[in-house]
Amino acid sequence: MSGTLAGTGRARQAAAGDLPGGSLAAVRIRGLRRTFGARDVLDGLDLDIAQGEFVALLGASGTGKTTLLRILGALDRHDAGTVLVPETRTVVFQEPRLVPSKKVLGNVTVALPRGPHTRETGRRALAEVGLEGHADAWPGTLSGGEAQRVALARALIREPELLLLDEPFAALDALTRLRMHDLVGELCRRHRPAVLLVTHDVDEAIRLADRVAVLRDGRLATDERIAIDHPRDSADPRFAALRTRLLTELGVHRAEPVPQPTRDTAPATAKESPA
Ligand SMILES: Nc1ncnc2c1ncn2[C@@H]1O[C@H](COP(=O)(O)OP(=O)(O)OP(=O)(O)O)[C@@H](O)[C@H]1O
Ligand SMILES: [Mg+2]
Repeated sequence: MSGTLAGTGRARQAAAGDLPGGSLAAVRIRGLRRTFGARDVLDGLDLDIAQGEFVALLGASGTGKTTLLRILGALDRHDAGTVLVPETRTVVFQEPRLVPSKKVLGNVTVALPRGPHTRETGRRALAEVGLEGHADAWPGTLSGGEAQRVALARALIREPELLLLDEPFAALDALTRLRMHDLVGELCRRHRPAVLLVTHDVDEAIRLADRVAVLRDGRLATDERIAIDHPRDSADPRFAALRTRLLTELGVHRAEPVPQPTRDTAPATAKESPA
């Protein structure tokens, strides 16, 4: 990889580099440190994400997941280490953060340069998230799931090489969340950005990601490839075994088997009380 810049400061644009296995890196992080007061929230963190790879990041509350995402999105600085990222990166947060004074189409195209095809491009992006009929709606009239789909369209319209998702489904009901999983999985297969998804939902991580990592004590305690074919069935014994391993890694111990999520029940999350 060329263009490596060590030390403090902002995430730097990465040139493609080789990863073990021959794929090209979209993200390369080495020895990342971020300190708040006396606490090293990120403390020597290493992470590679290949181009087009989907990585889910789990970790207890306050372990630094959002901090990492903000550094990758150039919304925060770091104190030490090397952070290489692609030039085009977009972020979707837990709340959709739509501009209330712009209609849906205006929100989707807000970061695009104005041109003769801007509105058409926006309409296509809305169609991809199933909201072509809502172009002229005001954000305040949308449901939570619809507003989050607009946020997703706004993020994807720029064809990012890196898509950063910070608990984007956490505020949605269980059924809408499952539908969003299908949509995000499909959109990511079509657009092929590298993805870092921060979530507390272990099932969401296993269902969507190529790799799942757990952040603890400022570093990745686990970083594991998910070798289960898509679509992934939560009843698959490999799914259940990985879920149990990850929940244990997260310090969530259960006396009884983890309930299988269905379209009627909420998925297992790492925010559930430890036994
Ligand atoms: N700007 C800041 N100033 C001081 N402390 C901060 C700042 N940003 C984050 N922190 C602290 O860093 C730690 C990690 O915060 P962060 O938001 O990254 O956690 P998280 O893993 O995303 O948690 P959650 O799962 O609850 O969203 C927390 O203790 C938080 O209080
Ligand atoms: Mg967070």
